[in-house]
Amino acid sequence: MSLFITFEGGEGSGKSSALRLIAERLEKEGIPYILTREPGGTPIAESIRNVILDRNNVAMDSRTEALLYAASRRQHLVEKVWPALKEGKIVLCDRYLDSSLAYQGGARGLGIDKILEVNSFATEGTFPDLTLFFDIEPELGLARIAANANREVNRLDLEKMDFHRGVRKTFQELAARFKDRYVTIDASKPLEEVVDDAYAAIKSRL
Ligand code: TYD
Repeated sequence: MSLFITFEGGEGSGKSSALRLIAERLEKEGIPYILTREPGGTPIAESIRNVILDRNNVAMDSRTEALLYAASRRQHLVEKVWPALKEGKIVLCDRYLDSSLAYQGGARGLGIDKILEVNSFATEGTFPDLTLFFDIEPELGLARIAANANREVNRLDLEKMDFHRGVRKTFQELAARFKDRYVTIDASKPLEEVVDDAYAAIKSRL
């Protein structure tokens, strides 16, 4: 049974670690899935990712940024997500449309509806079946990143604390607006519990 599941949250929420552990559980149960991420996931989309996240691109305009995310998203849908869903697989995707809504729409101030508009062209209306929102205080998330030497610091990590607060607030608003597909996970808990909560939400939709 195909299911499009997106993992969302602020920096250092642990969503990517949770995603890998969830993939291991699906593997053990013999449930067909793919694991992918945005921006990126295919060579063209990864090239766009490199432009967006390059620490030298401080002059990038916020609408340019929004369009690049949408372009990378489209390419990733065409090459990877849609084919996998057609084959009846579960797609576990690290970030998707809601990251654009929270980062570009909310924190950057472009507005949720403008970003939805740009993305409706890019996605042709493909929304996730389930969005797991890993909710954490930005201070705690950023402290985790600082403690994790393996995780490279990118251009968006370097934003001011107000930006990260705006991201979180917008995700919380989106969770209220898109109740049917959103599940909020308390990401301040230990990783194992976070994974149990997320897996339970997935199993209830299978
Ligand atoms: P990444 O290293 O993948 O971060 P993380 O591990 O936090 O997922 O970098 C992706 C960055 O891009 C992250 O800061 C969130 C941001 N982003 C947007 O601003 N808009 C988007 O549409 C997407 C997909 C990501």
